[in-house]
Amino acid sequence: MHNAEIAMIGLGVMGKSLALNLVDHGFQVAGFDLNSDNVARAQQEAATLAAMPGKGRFLAAANLTELLAQLATPRVIALSVPAGAVVDQVTDELLAAGLQPEDIVIDTGNSLWTDTEVRERRYQGKLRFFSTAVSGGEAGARHGPSLMASGDPSAWQYVKPMWHAIAAKVDADGMPVGPFDDGEACAAYLGPAGAGHYVKMVHNGIEYADMQLICEVYHYLSEVLAMPAADIGQVFARWNQGVLNSYLMEISADILQTRDPETDRPFVEVVLDKAGQKGTGLWTAVNSLQEGTPAPTIAQAVFARAMSSQKTQRITAASLFKAQAKSASVPDREAVLDDLHDALYCAKLAVYAQGFDLLKTTSERQGWQLDFAAIAKIWRAGCIIRAIFLQQVTAAYQQNPALENLLFAEHFRTELAERATGWRSAVANAALQGVPMPGIGSALSYFDALRCAVLPANLLQAQRDYFGSHTYSRTDQPEADKFHLTWNATPRVQQAQ
Ligand code: 6PG
Repeated sequence: MHNAEIAMIGLGVMGKSLALNLVDHGFQVAGFDLNSDNVARAQQEAATLAAMPGKGRFLAAANLTELLAQLATPRVIALSVPAGAVVDQVTDELLAAGLQPEDIVIDTGNSLWTDTEVRERRYQGKLRFFSTAVSGGEAGARHGPSLMASGDPSAWQYVKPMWHAIAAKVDADGMPVGPFDDGEACAAYLGPAGAGHYVKMVHNGIEYADMQLICEVYHYLSEVLAMPAADIGQVFARWNQGVLNSYLMEISADILQTRDPETDRPFVEVVLDKAGQKGTGLWTAVNSLQEGTPAPTIAQAVFARAMSSQKTQRITAASLFKAQAKSASVPDREAVLDDLHDALYCAKLAVYAQGFDLLKTTSERQGWQLDFAAIAKIWRAGCIIRAIFLQQVTAAYQQNPALENLLFAEHFRTELAERATGWRSAVANAALQGVPMPGIGSALSYFDALRCAVLPANLLQAQRDYFGSHTYSRTDQPEADKFHLTWNATPRVQQAQ
């Protein structure tokens, strides 16, 4: 046959959706999965599509040899298999089945970026190893994901037309348009192997933090203002019309207004408050700690999930420590809501600033030359963190690709100047009311620390020198010169009587 343009190995939720998206856009797709139910489902759904004009075809293969025979050359094979050893296993099996050095294997899973780097080296000369991180969940994969590609640049010319066709699209104002409308595709080649998966990892770190920030506002409104879930959902729906417009805001508004079909209670109240995680947020937090580039709100989002999982300990603590007495006076609800709105927005800006700072650090260290405007662009639609304000992030990096920190861009400086007071009130009130706000609070501390030309690390350096002779630099000497004080022999300042 030799006419399929791409093969998909792994036809689970994501693999099947990507395959159908390709068929929908007129590509001939070969598919393979060890699970025959997955193959049957993909075949059935593709058959419905194929009946329409302009659609591609889906060809199921019984094994890898048959799959390779169905492909035009160079063969392009996308893997949608669990991250980790399975990626190596399948790639090795493809080599054994006859893959050639010019053939292209694309890892579309949530792989650890350093694994992707190792794989590219390992398969060099044997095949062209490429990666494309996919964001947008099942619906995104099916109707328009955000695609973060990287790896062998010679492979991109074969992959690009397909990725551009199936990705989410935005119009000239950065607003999402339909999957078949003209628009700018949310798919880009970001750099050498590892870069795409690194960018996706940071995307997920931001995703963790963004979700946590929204959850903290929900918590405060239900605890302090005693608002029913559906009312909070309506507030979120209203906020979603403005600067906070985002996919996560939209789904949170919808979730909060949903009732449990079993009990008719607000759905969110029947969901156990123990968060799961697959690990990409943790990878981002670890990377931030290892690089020494602060992303405290992303780390706090991971800690918040960990804290939520310690349910038994929390139940004990709740009985041991009385809740903070709530203020007797009825708070000005509208003012509280305004403060929380601004707190959520400012904290979100700080989270993105942390994420882009990580991208900058690693881009410099790895020599990737990441294009931050291009990254902001492909996050404007399709992915989980899509948000209206990514248009301003794009503009900020287009204006100044070397922007030191996202918060320094003029647009965001103005926003912070106007909204920081509400942010402070929200955090202060949460502390007074005893409602945790680790994400929004840590974002404020990040902002405040960032604006301190002098931090108390002078005392910290002196402490280190005092107990460990770790030396210090002086403010009146070049930083590279290190000093140690002979503490025992040094006079102390006399107290004025
Ligand atoms: C996406 C999501 C996706 C996945 C998360 C879930 O961009 O489409 O980020 O990759 O839903 O990895 O992560 P947790 O299970 O760790 O919350």
